[in-house]
Amino acid sequence: MEKLHKKYRKLWGNEAEMLVLQRKIIDSKPVLQSMYKNFYSEIERFFPNDGLNVEIGTGHGYTSMYFKNLIQTDRVLTPHIAVCNDAQALPYKDGTLDTIMVLGVLHHMKTPDKFFNEAGRVLKKGGKILMVEPYVSILSYPVYKLAHHEGLDLRTKTCGSDKHHLLDANIAIPTIFFKKGKKEFENKYPDLKIIYQSYHTAFLFFVSGGYLYPNLLPVFLLPMLLWIEKVLRPLGKWIGSMMTVVIQKN
Ligand SMILES: C[S@@+](CC[C@H](N)C(=O)[O-])C[C@H]1O[C@@H](n2cnc3c(N)ncnc32)[C@H](O)[C@@H]1O
Repeated sequence: MEKLHKKYRKLWGNEAEMLVLQRKIIDSKPVLQSMYKNFYSEIERFFPNDGLNVEIGTGHGYTSMYFKNLIQTDRVLTPHIAVCNDAQALPYKDGTLDTIMVLGVLHHMKTPDKFFNEAGRVLKKGGKILMVEPYVSILSYPVYKLAHHEGLDLRTKTCGSDKHHLLDANIAIPTIFFKKGKKEFENKYPDLKIIYQSYHTAFLFFVSGGYLYPNLLPVFLLPMLLWIEKVLRPLGKWIGSMMTVVIQKN
């Protein structure tokens, strides 16, 4: 497995190939698979079985293992996507989508406000944005800051340039929008109502080693890790590294 990680580390800047390799890494890593399944099962109850549901920033495309009626899109062309589009200029007519799924993408956007304006425009009344993003808590801050390859700047809601999609990121963007700036978001987007929010995943992402490194703990400990995550969930606000946000268009 270290071979896949080594190859991945050499692909910096080559988004399409990185995303394809991400999928191979997920397929070989039960810890990452469990983490994604946790994310998906949390948002599943907000996902309609019918309607027009679009995922933005699909990347590795692992969502298709869980959600069936979902159009997968990304701004990078990979074998996993049906349509190429940018979150900040969506090619859909007003009031046409039932769901926008956006997992781990907001923190890569140069101007996330453009995305929320676009989402508000293309969603039907009652349509939802389902989002899972990195979260900066007291515990995750030092790990993201010191041991993670993506940038973290709590002073700005942008990620700088978007020349290299996967390298340009600001892990803090979702936390600024939905923790520090929640009131500001509600005032700015009166049609977009936050109907659900949770903080979670204290260790699973970090001990998985992500895409860059092998697991930090042996896989046989996975059931115990999942149990610990469950027990610690009420402390997510302080120790979580991820957050889930569901927004409904009024
Ligand atoms: C960290 S990956 C997340 C992939 C996957 N959604 C997941 O849950 O792991 C970020 C993905 O967002 C895509 N992306 C970044 N900025 C985007 C934008 N403005 N519009 C559409 N996709 C974007 C990237 O190409 C990449 O596939």
